Amino acid sequence: MIAATTERNRTDLSDGGDPVVELRGVTKSFTSETGSTLVLEDVDLTINAGEKASLVGPSGSGKSTLLALVAGLLRPDRGTVLVDGTANSELGERDRAQIRADRIGIALQSDNLIPFLSARENIELALSFSSAHRSRRAVRARADELLADLGLTNRAHHKPRHLSGGEAQRVALAVAMANEPALLLADEVVAALDSDTAVRVVEMVMEADFAVLFVTHHVALADGVDSRYELVDRRVVRR
Ligand SMILES: Nc1ncnc2c1ncn2[C@@H]1O[C@H](COP(=O)(O)OP(=O)(O)O)[C@@H](O)[C@H]1O
Ligand SMILES: [Mg+2]
Repeated sequence: MIAATTERNRTDLSDGGDPVVELRGVTKSFTSETGSTLVLEDVDLTINAGEKASLVGPSGSGKSTLLALVAGLLRPDRGTVLVDGTANSELGERDRAQIRADRIGIALQSDNLIPFLSARENIELALSFSSAHRSRRAVRARADELLADLGLTNRAHHKPRHLSGGEAQRVALAVAMANEPALLLADEVVAALDSDTAVRVVEMVMEADFAVLFVTHHVALADGVDSRYELVDRRVVRR
């Protein structure tokens, strides 16, 4: 009964919510000494508020590149990336950074934790970047909540190098979710987790209010979502 209701609400969100992010005709290539490689070509993709979307594709197909474009960390060669209806390209670096902090949570494939800060301090630092003011006490409470939700309470004081790969991935996810983003970008965040933990983390992310773009090569984990996409020949197609 509850599951059916959740399913219906999700469908409503994917059909009717306002777009959080839109890619319109996005093309991206990388240029090096050996020439130019076209990675994404004329990609269109819309993710609405609360919508859970997965993106699968073989290694090297451009999944991480697409997330970096959505996050405004890369600029497209052609086309437009809109966040909350505003084109990234219309904003200066400072505004783009504030949008990333307030609206987009980014858990990247490559470790993006600060090495000399503990798990808790990494999460608290992310909280400090929000434009929403939180008291010291509220910051601690939010960090505690995230650590508990991700099964990391007894790792709070560990520095990244003293965490296992799976624990570090979960801290990175906590950092990305800290400010209750409108959109969570998750790049292979469950790759180093055992399958039980991976399922638990995916369930937690899928139950959240925010929209998610979940990149994985675990096709099974990518299936329990509202919208399933695949990168095929430099384009994003629905599965
Ligand atoms: N900064 C970069 N400079 C040059 N080539 C890059 C860069 N980032 C990614 N690439 C290339 O773009 C392609 C897509 O990479 P990526 O988006 O990381 O794929 P995926 O995440 O699907 O494995 C690969 O061929 C990769 O080598
Ligand atoms: Mg990648």
